[in-house]
Amino acid sequence: MVKKILLGLLAVLVIIQFIRPERNLSNDQTYAVSTKYEVPNEVAGLLKVACNDCHSNLTRYPWYANLNPVGWILADHVNEGKEHLNFSDFTRRPVAVQNHKFEEVIETVEEHEMPLESYTALGLHADAKLSDAQRQTLISWARAQMDSLKAWYPADSLEFRRRRPAAQESHEEEHEEHEEHGGADDD
Ligand code: HEC
Repeated sequence: MVKKILLGLLAVLVIIQFIRPERNLSNDQTYAVSTKYEVPNEVAGLLKVACNDCHSNLTRYPWYANLNPVGWILADHVNEGKEHLNFSDFTRRPVAVQNHKFEEVIETVEEHEMPLESYTALGLHADAKLSDAQRQTLISWARAQMDSLKAWYPADSLEFRRRRPAAQESHEEEHEEHEEHGGADDD
C-alpha cells in the first residue's frame, strides 16, 4: 500500500516537471527606470542583486527553478512582483504612479518587507540580504527621485488616486496619512 502511494507521488513529481512556466527573459528595457531617473552604479547594483529578479524584465534563474513545484512558486513571485513594480517598465506608467512606486520602495525597504524573506532564506541570494547602510542607500535614492518629480511636475499631477469607490474615501485618507508618516521619518 505505502509503496503504491510513494510510486504514485513519484509519478506525479515526474509529470509536473513537464509543465514549464514561461520564463522572464525578454530583458526589454525600453521604459527602464534609468531612462528617466539617475541611477548611480551603487543603486543599480543593489537593485540587480536584491530586487530585479522579481521586479524587472530579466530574472536570473537559479538551478532549482528547474524543479517543480519550486519553479512554479518562483514564477508566481516573478509575475506578482512585476505586476506591482517593474523597474524595466517603469517610465511607461503615469507620473503619479511612478511617484507612488518610489514611495512604496521606501516603505517596503524600510520595513524589511522587501526583498521577500523567502528570497534570502536558507542562505540563498546572500548578497540580497541588505545591510542597514544598503537599505538607506535605496531609501535615499528613492526619496531623491521623488524630490526630482516634485521639481519637474505640478503637485496635483503627482497625486496618486487609488481606483476605489467613493464610499471608501475616508479609509483611503487614513492610509495615506499613515504612508506620509512612514515616509517622513528620516527627513
Ligand atoms: C523573490 C521575489 C522578490 C524580490 C527579490 C523582491 N520583491 Fe518586491 N515584491 C515581490 C512580490 C511577490 C510582491 C507583491 C506581493 C507583496 O507585496 O508581497 C512585491 C511587491 C513589492 C512592492 C509593492 C508593494 C505594494 O504595496 O504594492 C514594492 C515597492 C517592492 N516589492 C519593492 C521591492 C524592492 C525595492 C526590492 C529589492 C530591495 C524587492 N521588492 C525585491 C517579490 C519580490
